[in-house]
Amino acid sequence: MPTVFITGGSGFIGSHTCLSLLENGYDVIAIDSQINSNKFTLEKVFEVHKSSKNPTKKLFFVEGDIRDEKLLDEIFKKAILRKKPIEAVLHFAGLKSVGESIKNPIKYWDINVGGSISLFKCMQNNNCNTIVFSSSATIYGVNQKSTSLKENSSIHPINPYGENKVTIEKILKNIFDSSIKKWKIANLRYFNPIGAHSSGLIGEEPEGIPNNIFPFICQVASGKIDKLEIFGNDWPTEDGTCIRDYIHIMDLADAHKSALNYLLTKDSQFINLNIGTGIGTSVLELVETFIDINGCDFNYIFGERRSGDSPNVIANNDLATNLLDWKPKKNLKDMCRDGWLYQSNLNKEFVLNSASSNLQKLF
Ligand code: NAD
Ligand code: UD1
Repeated sequence: MPTVFITGGSGFIGSHTCLSLLENGYDVIAIDSQINSNKFTLEKVFEVHKSSKNPTKKLFFVEGDIRDEKLLDEIFKKAILRKKPIEAVLHFAGLKSVGESIKNPIKYWDINVGGSISLFKCMQNNNCNTIVFSSSATIYGVNQKSTSLKENSSIHPINPYGENKVTIEKILKNIFDSSIKKWKIANLRYFNPIGAHSSGLIGEEPEGIPNNIFPFICQVASGKIDKLEIFGNDWPTEDGTCIRDYIHIMDLADAHKSALNYLLTKDSQFINLNIGTGIGTSVLELVETFIDINGCDFNYIFGERRSGDSPNVIANNDLATNLLDWKPKKNLKDMCRDGWLYQSNLNKEFVLNSASSNLQKLF
């Protein structure tokens, strides 16, 4: 099986995708600057992989920044020397806080767009032309309609983070158009990934107070945060709270594996794919399901609407489910149960089952 290069490999989505790829026979080289992730995450990924049926695969880790073109080039060259050149890239590395992107746009353009450009340069220089990019439903902007979003819905980013994602998609389209028989590019536009791997060993662990609802709920339920404020109960939805399309993190990870398999077996192409379940859940439904399935209780209050929110953000996922050998398998209860298991394990110390690190060194 091919070797793949994963940027942002120790982050929330990158780490679960590393696991999905290892389980499906890929060798993985991951890079992460660790700016927003825990250095033990990939150790845990391999620990889970070791207990699987066919734990033969290798996970290489390089600590570094994707803006470091020299380092990226060395990684591609080293893989060629190993006689296992990098055949595809999954590009997760970047910053993702909407609020921070408004306060510090230069940092966001530098890391998200600048980092992507250095990666694409290295890919081109090393003749690697297959990439799956982490885009986001945020590019569709404020959706006032109750209909689900299609890939050809209008694109209206409303903050620097969203602008970054649209720009990277555009750069990738320019690269594709420059040599259309060569490149294989998939922009996966994620909706709301939540939950954790069912082992409870890997999950989402944001620094500081979480911006997103699910890690916030987990921290309120664990007593780390006092109460949850639900942003508005006067939206034009059945219970007045906003509707989102939550997707289990392992279904999202598997979508990457399927997108990669698809690109590697097809001719050159450029595709945009919505990755969601197509099912809408209100904030209140999410809170009630979490409380019900986990048997825990916590305080929540209704507050003002959050600026920039949309009442309805649901994926039309027909294109992804028709094109890829993929469909989401897990439901909201699975997401709440697995996410809470991970949160409950956070206080336990992680001990490696082997004497030395699980991770291979590339250099
Ligand atoms: P994350 O913060 O957990 O992971 C991103 C990883 O990238 C982190 O481990 C971080 O340390 C690393 N990183 C940041 N800058 C880097 C750099 N310059 N060089 C190397 N590594 C760097 O975030 P995530 O939730 O796993 O998101 C992954 C990707 O998916 C991001 O591009 C994000 O914008 C996108 N996305 C996420 C969501 C979501 O809800 N989580 C939704 C849509 C899109
Ligand atoms: C947010 C970002 C989006 C980004 C996505 C993933 C905004 C306006 N949108 O999307 O650009 O791509 O995160 O990083 O910031 N909620 C509460 N209380 C909370 C937190 C959230 O009620 O403390 C509500 C929100 O109003 C929303 C829902 O929960 O209705 C989901 O919020 P969130 O997890 O932040 O995701 P998005 O709003 O979809």
